[in-house]
Amino acid sequence: MKEKIDALLKEVERFEAKTAEELEAFRLRMLSKKGAIPSLFQDFRHVEPEARKEIGRLLNELKQTATLKLQVLKSGLEDQASGQETLDSKPDMTMPAVFNPIGSRHPLSVVRNKINTIFEKIGFVISEGPEIEDDWHNFSALNFPEEHPARDMQDTFFVEKQPDIALRTHTSSVQVRVMENQQPPIRTISPGRVFRNEAISARAHCIFHQVEGLYIDEGVSFADMKQILLYFAREMFGEQTRIRLRPSFFPFTEPSAEMDVSCNICGGPGCPICKYSGWIEVLGCGMVDPNVLDNCGIDSKKYTGYAFGMGIERITMNIYQVKDLRMFFENDLRFLNQFTSAL
Ligand code: DAH
Repeated sequence: MKEKIDALLKEVERFEAKTAEELEAFRLRMLSKKGAIPSLFQDFRHVEPEARKEIGRLLNELKQTATLKLQVLKSGLEDQASGQETLDSKPDMTMPAVFNPIGSRHPLSVVRNKINTIFEKIGFVISEGPEIEDDWHNFSALNFPEEHPARDMQDTFFVEKQPDIALRTHTSSVQVRVMENQQPPIRTISPGRVFRNEAISARAHCIFHQVEGLYIDEGVSFADMKQILLYFAREMFGEQTRIRLRPSFFPFTEPSAEMDVSCNICGGPGCPICKYSGWIEVLGCGMVDPNVLDNCGIDSKKYTGYAFGMGIERITMNIYQVKDLRMFFENDLRFLNQFTSAL
């Protein structure tokens, strides 16, 4: 009996398993009900009483050793298997990338930022003013006559009558605020939201966005303005862009003009976008009226300057070929998601 136990112990100690099947075979052979070790326990009854103590101890040791060995080998094989799994789950470089959805800037913000950057590059600083304005900053200081139609209830959203407080109808109100608080040289652009009591359609909305520009110093001329606007048009619409100025009228500039840029789609010959004219209307501009300078505490005998104002919606519609202005305000993700790559 003792020899049998020793032989089995050696076998157990020497045993190594490379696979789960080998290990299972070992368990069956040694420890299962009919395995070698339980059989020895069966035979234990025939052992003489004086040898029982020692044989009993040896048998228990053998069983413990075999059970422990089984556990150790089993967990070793399991570790190996899970190690293999980690190997298998290493990133597969040929797999298509997991799409990580990111937000996008609103197209109006994209274009506004671009306009800001173009002017900041040449020394303009950004200024802002309130969206709720008084009559002075929105109209009177800007030389609007008392009976000017823009003051009419039809155009302006009034918040209060007497004194007149309204939602600003243009960002030109900010140039008044800047001039009241600062002496020339002044170079500023004022982006912001404006409000007009207009019927909403594909081309018009009651809320929209403008950027106002103002440059005041000694000896500033119309030619300076034209050069800056040409620079802007080329940065915004591309190197090959041409501009043209058409005479116009605004109460706060004299002379006044409207600037067109050559159509960035057809380049000139005419297409549906430019309505076959080859030109696209982009902004209003002119030399700041001396009355406006004086109204704002700037000496019109010493200083001259130019101003311009443009609608962000119109430029954005042109650049991205957006046919209906209402899309900017509907927050439809199918529309907005198209701008994820725009900065
Ligand atoms: N404020 C004008 C508008 O709302 C735009 C404008 C035109 C601004 C000419 C100017 C300018 O500064 O000189 O339509």
